[in-house]
Amino acid sequence: MKLPYNRPHFFEFHDQPWCPPTVTAQAQAILTFLWTHRIPPFQSRAPYHGAADVLSGLIRELEGDKKAQEKGKGRLKVVDCCSGAGGPIPAIERVVNKQRVDSGLTPIPFVLSDLNPHLSSWAKATATSTSNALSFIPYPVDATHAPAELTRERHIRTFCLSFHHFNEDAARKIIQDAIKGADALCIFELQEPRLESLLELLAIFPLVFLVTPFTKPTISILILTYILPVLPFLMVFDGLVSAYRTRSLEHVRYLANLANLTLNLEGNDVSEWSWNEGRRRHTWPSGKMYWIIGKRESDGSSSW
Ligand SMILES: C[S@@+](CC[C@H](N)C(=O)[O-])C[C@H]1O[C@@H](n2cnc3c(N)ncnc32)[C@H](O)[C@@H]1O
Repeated sequence: MKLPYNRPHFFEFHDQPWCPPTVTAQAQAILTFLWTHRIPPFQSRAPYHGAADVLSGLIRELEGDKKAQEKGKGRLKVVDCCSGAGGPIPAIERVVNKQRVDSGLTPIPFVLSDLNPHLSSWAKATATSTSNALSFIPYPVDATHAPAELTRERHIRTFCLSFHHFNEDAARKIIQDAIKGADALCIFELQEPRLESLLELLAIFPLVFLVTPFTKPTISILILTYILPVLPFLMVFDGLVSAYRTRSLEHVRYLANLANLTLNLEGNDVSEWSWNEGRRRHTWPSGKMYWIIGKRESDGSSSW
């Protein structure tokens, strides 16, 4: 479904400042559960495996880029932006680094970050990392303006189920900041503005009833799920709005062009970036992960 780029941003309940923190936290806990657990017989593996495969491929590509390495910015790492409570990143880190260790490579550092650091959740997640390669930035990191200590090092920025939360202006600023300081940007979404994706999202309603007992629910969450089914409704509503908000590759390229133009006007020497997309089914019959990868082309120093 082709939607206009400048469509109204609309709202998701769990983004709203008035949404109770317990409800927001529960919505994130359910999303993390859906990323990290397999639902038989509809899934052959949990959705995070697909993201780990994509990221491993990108890491191999960037590590093989000798020209970028020669520029001496040190070892590559993965910096997750808008990590929330962690989302799928701790699980992705485990898979990526297990594969690396099994093939005789050193683990690649993964770093969690957010404008509102979730320190206790991150401390728990890092403690379970078997490769000790998962860490976090303990202070607020704004994805539209990353701190200098981050941009000094070669890194991939990831956005898991978070890029669609930003309006046009903020999304352009995120891309602009990445073009300035990162080596690649990787956007992962589990929904899209396509009919089959919308139908799949309706399945979240019964799933919330099934999944809630595994998320250590409080009494109020149990009431808001099983007595007044506010949470199942809210999850479906926010899922449908997420699909409506999810940007296509063309849309991201358009924002990247605007970002490039701004950087040029500000007198920056802008590298050329390439942008690609992919889809992989995670849930039968039609649930697909959608990703967009932007990558600095090591040869290019000219803008578009
Ligand atoms: C939907 S949640 C995170 C989803 C998480 N990645 C997951 O998969 O569960 C969005 C997060 O973005 C963070 N956020 C909002 N604006 C931000 C910004 N400008 N920079 C960094 N993080 C931001 C919020 O604090 C929130 O934790």
